[in-house]
Amino acid sequence: MRLLLTGAKGQLGHSLTQYTPAGWETLFADKVMLDITRESDIERIVCNFKPTIIINAAAYTLVDNAENEKEKAYSVNVNGARLMARAAKLCGASFFHMSTDYVFDGQSFLPYKETDECCPINVYGDSKRKGEIAVLEENGDAIVLRTSWVYSEYGQNFLKTISNLIDQEKEIKVVADQIGCPTYANDIAKVLYQLSYIKNLPGGIYHYSGDTSLSWYDFSKMIASAMNKRDAIIQKVSSNEFQSVAKRPQFSVMDCTKILNLGIQLSNLEKGVQLAIHNLELVER
Ligand SMILES: NC(=O)c1ccc[n+]([C@@H]2O[C@H](COP(=O)([O-])OP(=O)(O)OC[C@H]3O[C@@H](n4cnc5c(N)ncnc54)[C@H](OP(=O)(O)O)[C@@H]3O)[C@@H](O)[C@H]2O)c1
Repeated sequence: MRLLLTGAKGQLGHSLTQYTPAGWETLFADKVMLDITRESDIERIVCNFKPTIIINAAAYTLVDNAENEKEKAYSVNVNGARLMARAAKLCGASFFHMSTDYVFDGQSFLPYKETDECCPINVYGDSKRKGEIAVLEENGDAIVLRTSWVYSEYGQNFLKTISNLIDQEKEIKVVADQIGCPTYANDIAKVLYQLSYIKNLPGGIYHYSGDTSLSWYDFSKMIASAMNKRDAIIQKVSSNEFQSVAKRPQFSVMDCTKILNLGIQLSNLEKGVQLAIHNLELVER
């Protein structure tokens, strides 16, 4: 297999570089090497490298900034995604694209299925939804993997932010009325590689997340406990008290039955948090 990975220096990109199956030839492209909004970059790299699989982990992911940088968010998450899906189709490579639970409005009481109506409530979610549509319009064989609340020892994420604040013994206020399923980036990487081995996997959308739904507040208490630190400094707040630029869905739980039926296991939250904290301590040493 010849893997072209975009967004290789991002959080998920990092995990994908760590778990590439043995024997694969790889081109790990960061934004400097391959800007997915530039057709000429894509053509040059795809023609030269001739991938048999492309994983698009590149994205504009700054949820709050997206509200004021709409053009940038849509350019990367819609146009860039479309160009990558088209390039994969033209060169006959299988194509894997990442999406998010933020395509839903969070008003449901039941886990969202792949077929449920999307109704994003912020610019980032809307750009990702439009990106999914663009990808599948260009390339019906593409696999679009929606995931949620990604954490790991790499990049910018909630687990790292909270663990830093805990280390500094600062008072931490965490939202307790948004519910979702944190997903370990290393598990997502492994699942993408597992999916790539499934023959004749039908193109379309698949949900993959952690196995436990909880609030950001409860997630932060788990992080404190994995660090063996007292969690008394973590205080519950409501979304109304914790104002952010972009609105967030209240309920972000996805139904993962479709991917479970392929024999894929969900990301185990307790194990993932323990590993991420352990690896974070190693990275920081
Ligand atoms: N993080 C989450 O909680 C979460 C949840 C659900 C779904 N997802 C999805 O999972 C995927 C991976 O997310 P992540 O957490 O790994 O995000 P990330 O850490 O922000 O990584 C995205 C990478 O893409 C790069 N990038 C931005 N614009 C680009 C462009 N025009 N061309 C090439 N690369 C570009 C970024 O570079 P710069 O940083 O230099 O801009 C960054 O290295 C995304 O599709 C995201 O929407 C993430």
